[in-house]
Amino acid sequence: MRDIESRGDGPHSPPPLLFLVFGASGDLTHRKLLPALYELHRKGDLHPKTKIIGIARKEKTTQMFRKEAVDGIRAFSRHLPEDEKDEPDDLRDFLERIHYFPLSFEKSEDFDHLAEYLTDPGLLEATNGNILFYLATPPSFFIPIVEQIGRIRPRLDSFPKAGFRRLVVEKPFGHDLVSAKALNVAVLKVFRESEVHRIDHYLGKETVQNILILRLANPVFGALWSREIISCVEIRVFETIGIEGRGAYFEESGILRDMVQNHLFQLLTLTAMEPPVSFDADSIRDEKVKVLRALVPWRSQKPSESVLFGQYSEGGVLGDPVMGYRQEKGVDPLSVVETYAAMKLEIQNMRWAGVPFHLVAGKRMSRKATEIVLHYRKPPVALFRLAGCHDDTENVLTLSIQPNEGISLRFGIKRPGSPLRIDQADLAFAYSQIYPEDPPEAYSRLIYDVMKGDATLFARNDEVEKAWMFMEPFLSLKRDPMFYPAGSDGPFEVDDFFSVDLS
Ligand code: NDP
Ligand code: BG6
Repeated sequence: MRDIESRGDGPHSPPPLLFLVFGASGDLTHRKLLPALYELHRKGDLHPKTKIIGIARKEKTTQMFRKEAVDGIRAFSRHLPEDEKDEPDDLRDFLERIHYFPLSFEKSEDFDHLAEYLTDPGLLEATNGNILFYLATPPSFFIPIVEQIGRIRPRLDSFPKAGFRRLVVEKPFGHDLVSAKALNVAVLKVFRESEVHRIDHYLGKETVQNILILRLANPVFGALWSREIISCVEIRVFETIGIEGRGAYFEESGILRDMVQNHLFQLLTLTAMEPPVSFDADSIRDEKVKVLRALVPWRSQKPSESVLFGQYSEGGVLGDPVMGYRQEKGVDPLSVVETYAAMKLEIQNMRWAGVPFHLVAGKRMSRKATEIVLHYRKPPVALFRLAGCHDDTENVLTLSIQPNEGISLRFGIKRPGSPLRIDQADLAFAYSQIYPEDPPEAYSRLIYDVMKGDATLFARNDEVEKAWMFMEPFLSLKRDPMFYPAGSDGPFEVDDFFSVDLS
């Protein structure tokens, strides 16, 4: 994990490369990838010779594709407001980098044409033969595309200036353990593990990376990070949005696959891992995998007893009426797919045994919040209570990942005067107080790291498989979700579900 330092063609800049986007006309490309690449271009983090080749099925010219790219950037980049009619110079320069190549993922001959196109000496020579393959396609195409790349790779590699090959695979990496393993096998037939980057955009968020800094650069917090002193850890990802028109996808995935197996498990492993022996990709990923290996349902309960599923019904979010999940387009009107999941887990190792980890993910909640909350044990003797003083003190350390990035620590203080009273206060730090500018977009950070060949913020093959392996018994549970109105705090049953552990 390196700092973003210098730009363009300076000594710390990413090398030149051909950035191939498979699925170039898709939602993700327009919403995230092109805005992120534009951000990198503006900051001078794309080598002047780097080119972006958009690849998708429909026939269209490069000019047409560039026009679509501008529309996407206008709609989703914070650097170009939608009402800004002019094209700034840096946008025009950025568009010069972009080209379009029509190709059907189902046609071998199209990949042969792609190989011819890529081995054009002018194109590959300018980028020192470096190629980055980015799979931003529906997951069903991941294996077929990788197999086709495997078929044309010898031709690309025989080019006199054979540079690096890197592969980025979008989420979801598999649908379950079997499919994740099959995808790993297909990918690792064509690419070495060190060339593969399985993306989870949560790892690109600045405050997610800050979990490790907080723990490992600050002994004062590092010392407060174990079962000796912590009574419970909560990890919650609440969203106010629903499924954003992705009904068919969500019916297949539910929130366990969409959010918990990847984003929440990343937060969990970074929070619970042991300090790595060094700060490199494999040392960090080794420790994350150990957490997943030690993960069990709370007090070894049956999976069915350690999870609670919910589904949002009609309601109102932030003042606007919204439909229920079953009314969303592409959703079965009798669907039992979960849009909310609460899990009670335990990490059975020396540091964490006996500490409940409460994971909650929910869509259409009353507020947007991604937080990691550490609850500390009470003092062994309730000195002040014994003296007749009301004392509710609970030390709580909250790491707010989004939307208001910051850290706060709650503690008890004496209220001035008599009789003796104890109040609660917070030591609070907000990122925005010190860094008023928005942090880089997660995708910019991750793409920058791939271009530099740093895999720290990407999932390794065994990490993905361990996460699926743990999740497997939960995936097959019969769903009978509790309903909660959109815009609420989730099913009311969750209080009882968790309360036993917090007492
Ligand atoms: P879309 O369905 O919007 O895009 C699909 C793309 O694939 C289009 O460019 C389409 O090209 C192309 N395509 C489809 N079939 C073929 C084919 N047979 N041959 C050639 N091209 C084809 O997908 P998304 O952008 O939503 O998702 C892409 C990936 O990103 C998925 O893995 C998804 O899970 C992941 N993701 C998406 C997020 C999002 O917010 N959208 C968030 C996080 C991850 P054409 O238009 O020419 O048909
Ligand atoms: C995506 C999920 O991976 O992450 C979406 O598919 C979810 O369902 C999104 O809304 C949340 O990302 P963020 O960055 O807004 O928290």
